[in-house]
Amino acid sequence: MVSDEIVLQIEGLSKVYRSLFAPAGTKAVDSLTLGVRRGETYSIVGPNGSGKTTTLKIVLGLIFPTSGKVNIFGSDVADLAVRERVGFLPEDAYLYDVFTGEELLDFYAGLFGYSRRRRKELVDELLSLVGMQANRRVPFQECSKGMRQRLALAQALVNDPELLILDEPTSGLDPAGRHQMTELIYELKRRGKTILLCSHFLAEVEEVCDRVGIMYRGRLVAEGTLTELAGDPTEIVITASGMSPEGASRVAAHSAVLGVEGDVVRMGHESSDRLWSVLDAVREAGGRVAEVHRPRPTLQDVFVRAIRQDAPERDAGEEVH
Ligand SMILES: Nc1ncnc2c1ncn2[C@@H]1O[C@H](COP(=O)(O)OP(=O)(O)OP(=O)(O)O)[C@@H](O)[C@H]1O
Ligand SMILES: [Mg+2]
Repeated sequence: MVSDEIVLQIEGLSKVYRSLFAPAGTKAVDSLTLGVRRGETYSIVGPNGSGKTTTLKIVLGLIFPTSGKVNIFGSDVADLAVRERVGFLPEDAYLYDVFTGEELLDFYAGLFGYSRRRRKELVDELLSLVGMQANRRVPFQECSKGMRQRLALAQALVNDPELLILDEPTSGLDPAGRHQMTELIYELKRRGKTILLCSHFLAEVEEVCDRVGIMYRGRLVAEGTLTELAGDPTEIVITASGMSPEGASRVAAHSAVLGVEGDVVRMGHESSDRLWSVLDAVREAGGRVAEVHRPRPTLQDVFVRAIRQDAPERDAGEEVH
């Protein structure tokens, strides 16, 4: 259940990286403001280099912002009590090669001060949750990318955090692995965790997230639930079999119809008050109506639209993902 309480507030956040190669600085994050509610799964999406990882690192207190602030559970991220309530899955999780999954989780549980008995229970619970029971004694150097990613997530869960920060949890996984990771995130959400993640896999983001923020060149260019972002459907699609070619041409000539291709008739959503008249025309053309569908733009469509609108003068060669 998502409550109204904001557990993570980012306000006016900016980060300029200065280096030998860019003495003037690279503005990785630019005046970013967003809030995540308790129990919510919020995803930041955006092209490579748009500032997602930088934002997550600032939220975790791993790097400092140039300006702006982050508040977690009403306190500053530097507060140790806050950090104990947060779990983090980094973009490139580094795990000690000589450890097995079982040893790693036991080690981290020890750091959090759990008793030997509780540690054993916890390690079993976490290995089952991430589907690594059977491979619990495989050393990391022999683990596949997917196995490592699951163990890194298990590690992020050792302290039973209320807030989870996941930087590309499905990167490097095959489609089955991505699906399992998405199910796992869904399970964590079901258990009431608040989750802030970033990802390039928009179909999975669509599946699991309550709200999405689209970041581009360090700025939040769009934000909302999928329904809010997608807006109203733009078309009505009628699927009807059996129209004669002459009948189909007559349907295509109907003023509310945008086009006819085979069994599919498309009409503008703004003309929806004329749907009955189009359906009559389809039937007169010998068509049997199987489906009337009002498709909404996908997150991919919204993403591309938001970025195009924000950067009509896009750099040549810059990729949109
Ligand atoms: N340590 C650093 N020093 C200098 N510049 C950096 C550093 N880390 C990131 N940057 C720059 O900051 C910008 C944002 O990078 P960031 O890693 O936050 O993007 P991202 O959205 O996570 O990208 P990706 O999707 O590729 O993971 C990029 O231009 C990047 O080159
Ligand atoms: Mg990143």
